[in-house]
Amino acid sequence: MNTIDYTTIDPSKGAPAREPERQYYFIAKAKEYLKKQSQEAGRPLTFCVTTFGCQMNARDSEKLSGILEQIGYVEEPDEEKADFVIYNTCTVRENANQRVYGRLGQLNRVKKKNPHMMIGLCGCMMQEPEVVEKLKKSYRFVDLIFGTHNIFKFAELIVTRMESKRMVIDIWKDTDKIVEDLPSERKYSFKSGVNIMFGCNNFCSYCIVPYVRGRERSRNPEDIIREIRRLVDDGVVEVMLLGQNVNSYGKTLEHPMSFAQLLMEIEKIEGLERIRFMTSHPKDLSDELIEVMRTSKKICRHLHLPVQSGSSRILEKMNRRYTKEHYLELVEKIRAAVPDISLTTDIIVGFPGETEEDFLETMDVVRKVRYDSAFTFIYSKRTGTPAAVMEDQVPADVVKDRFDRLLKEVQHISSEVCSIYTDTIQEVLVETVNDHDSFLMTGRMSNNLLVHFPGDESLVGRIVPVELKECKGFYYIGELVRES
Ligand code: 5AD
Ligand code: SF4
Repeated sequence: MNTIDYTTIDPSKGAPAREPERQYYFIAKAKEYLKKQSQEAGRPLTFCVTTFGCQMNARDSEKLSGILEQIGYVEEPDEEKADFVIYNTCTVRENANQRVYGRLGQLNRVKKKNPHMMIGLCGCMMQEPEVVEKLKKSYRFVDLIFGTHNIFKFAELIVTRMESKRMVIDIWKDTDKIVEDLPSERKYSFKSGVNIMFGCNNFCSYCIVPYVRGRERSRNPEDIIREIRRLVDDGVVEVMLLGQNVNSYGKTLEHPMSFAQLLMEIEKIEGLERIRFMTSHPKDLSDELIEVMRTSKKICRHLHLPVQSGSSRILEKMNRRYTKEHYLELVEKIRAAVPDISLTTDIIVGFPGETEEDFLETMDVVRKVRYDSAFTFIYSKRTGTPAAVMEDQVPADVVKDRFDRLLKEVQHISSEVCSIYTDTIQEVLVETVNDHDSFLMTGRMSNNLLVHFPGDESLVGRIVPVELKECKGFYYIGELVRES
């Protein structure tokens, strides 16, 4: 939670024009309405934020939760019991959209039994006009719809809904606005995502993100540093810097600055122990960044470097602006500078026109790079993207067969690569009590691998040495090394 105190704002006065003051005004106002509703209900009203998609959405959901908590809602993990349910949606692949429609149908039944219930929808899917049309027509029970550009206005939109009792829709096509200093409620006390930029300018031909997240804009370095300092004061030891393409950070700033320069500034923050970032585009990954990673004491030994395809022909059709050879050279350069780095990637199978030869090029990259892990996706046609109208869409059975072969290879390599740390001692940031066995704690190594080891809850948030005893494919079983 940020530390600025806006609680003195008087909701009986008019709304300030400036942000974030305006939103704190609406938080105070919503609080009054909610108090009345709670009195009517005879109990505190609850909320549940459900996140679909990527880490950016997860971070946005923390902001939504922060605002709801300030208004006075109490968190309820079960969405069927909550009074305010909000879906923060993703639209990168079509099946994500289908899941949202399916779950909405279910929520409608719950809402009929709860007069206080509100349903909100936000995130990438809402930026698609045909989605909003469909919701307006067939999902009238939804209370609030907003997009990716005006999440900061959440409190204001809640008040509008509370006052009007009608479906409230507010979608912006694009924005150059970044609102700082709004509340947020972190999921973990010791680590946090930090947005460093929003949007994407790359227009990879299969990807809907540039259309729903808008043009690239970077936060000012001072704002980023200030946020991280506050987080560290509040117990955070690890940050994940977030952006669709962090390697092009700072290009649009009034005083341009590179991502590598930003990292050097963040490294100086005392008390911060680990820095991660996501996602890197291979075309923008600079020698300067590799050098900073080599010399840094805090940047984690992990790089997520989406390759998408191993075929230069397909990469060109994808508008990725690198070739297979360029990608492999880059990997070599990174490995030479940071030998113990863990590399992970995203791969799409079945892009239009992908032949068996193209696919074998992808398999070849996978075998050459030997990724620690890879997210594999079946190509999904997204209306409005250039790839959606390309000829030679690959038949589903062919794609499925390639996907299965790729997954098998990725998993086989990954289990071999992961096992190399057996019998070594590694620093582990302890995250939670193990889901399946409460005598075990779960933590993460610098290279992002999970480790389970006997321990107790007092270790959460600490970085401790753990001896890795046994590799179980994608994770380790270890033993805490007690300091003598
Ligand atoms: N179909 C399948 N996968 C996609 N991705 C992005 N767009 C699509 C699509 N249309 C994948 C890419 C990206 C990851 C976040 O999602 O691999 O890196
Ligand atoms: Fe999509 Fe490409 Fe931008 Fe990533 S870099 S969000 S894949 S357009």
